[in-house]
Amino acid sequence: MRYAILTHGGAASPESFSDGCVAAAEAARATLDRGGDALAAALAATAALEDDPRFNAGTGSILRLDGTAIEMDASVMSSDGRFGAVTCIERVKNPVLVAARVMETPHLVLAGAGATAFARRVGFEDHDPSTLRARERHARAIADLEGLGDGRHAREAPGWRRGPPGHYFGFADLCAGADTVGAVVRDAQGRFAATASTGGTLFTLRGRVGDAPTMGAGVYAGPHGAVAATGIGEEIVRRFLAKSVYDWVAEGLAPARAASRGLAMFPDVVDVGICVIGRTGHVVTSNRSMARAALAG
Ligand code: GLY
Repeated sequence: MRYAILTHGGAASPESFSDGCVAAAEAARATLDRGGDALAAALAATAALEDDPRFNAGTGSILRLDGTAIEMDASVMSSDGRFGAVTCIERVKNPVLVAARVMETPHLVLAGAGATAFARRVGFEDHDPSTLRARERHARAIADLEGLGDGRHAREAPGWRRGPPGHYFGFADLCAGADTVGAVVRDAQGRFAATASTGGTLFTLRGRVGDAPTMGAGVYAGPHGAVAATGIGEEIVRRFLAKSVYDWVAEGLAPARAASRGLAMFPDVVDVGICVIGRTGHVVTSNRSMARAALAG
């Protein structure tokens, strides 16, 4: 059995950011070289992506619609069925590493203030994940919502109705700008792991939960492989994307065919990407540009 590592910077992320995905995949390979398993390698890759401020996860996460909060989601699943996730966690550097600690508890998902308090209890220090780039991106998005911007985010804006100053109501059919990061790994012993981490979508209310911390939507892993999805969370959850694709691989479909079938479930207007590793193959693909990397050996 050979190892394989796939990383991505999110559906619609610039392919020019793929160097960050390569660095993340190399961190995963170094972990395997040191004797770490697929789970440890996927966590190393995802933590590296969270630390790269160009990506919407960990440091660099986008702001919620209120312009002040950064709430992050992350999850991890291994092929022995273990799963851990955090949602709407604040002020931690690496949400995916907190999600891994949730695996050690009787719970699957910790949310909001409870997730942040748990992170502190198990040793994760206070960290401000905001960046100038994220604040500027938020300002541009709000300008478009107000009809004053350059239109770059106009596709997402019309579904939001203006309320009193600074308040917006009503969801768009699609909440876009969803560049999650993630990884899938198969180690030489045939174990699999999948991860996802994100600051959420561009126009997002506080408290919103997307696909990244939802088992079977953003990630799934089992004895036949591992899948990590990226894109608009609400659309991914509705289609149970990661588990659907995993099931097709388990039934014998090649990863590339299973991934194509998964993408075909979405209308063209929905950004979506997927990484799939099976026992004998792997693929990372998207219906948009997507920063990505693949290492195998
Ligand atoms: N896929 C990221 C999100 O919807 O939150």
